[in-house]
Amino acid sequence: MAETATAEPTRRDFLFIATGAVGAVGVAAVAWPFIAQMNPDAATVAAGAPVEVDLTPIAEGQIVKLFWRGKLIFVRHRTAEEIKEAEDVNVASLPDPEADSARVKEGHAQWLVVYGNCTHLGCVPLGNAGAYDGWLCPCHGSVFDTSGRIRQGPAPTNLPIPPYAFVDDTKIQIG
Ligand code: FES
Repeated sequence: MAETATAEPTRRDFLFIATGAVGAVGVAAVAWPFIAQMNPDAATVAAGAPVEVDLTPIAEGQIVKLFWRGKLIFVRHRTAEEIKEAEDVNVASLPDPEADSARVKEGHAQWLVVYGNCTHLGCVPLGNAGAYDGWLCPCHGSVFDTSGRIRQGPAPTNLPIPPYAFVDDTKIQIG
């Protein structure tokens, strides 16, 4: 009897642990879909939901494109030289006068976030191109600087800045 009494709880303990382990695996398995669902689906984004952008993979000098509310957006990781070019401009001489500091977030001058359609007739300008190392619109030759400001050509205004904020140093939320 003593042997059985000892064996029973041992077996129950084993079953309890095994069940616990299965439970843990089950939780881990359902964690992925949950994380995936934290990013809004395409329909929600199209309806205007904010989107978060992880800046970590964007190398210095690189420009990435993304869509928000169906509109193209450029996120540019500016080099120190590009920032200097953007800052060392006589603002009053610009066709659409705007200081670079007004077009980036304080403390994050290396990140430029602008809408990606030319303000002339909507073509998509080519990055790292043109006389000011910013963008060159292939349609009618508008030239934008490293702050996305119009410098030459028929585009009437700078590339607009979408509403966005830094969530932390490596992540922004657009919208
Ligand atoms: S659409 Fe860009 S210059 Fe005309």
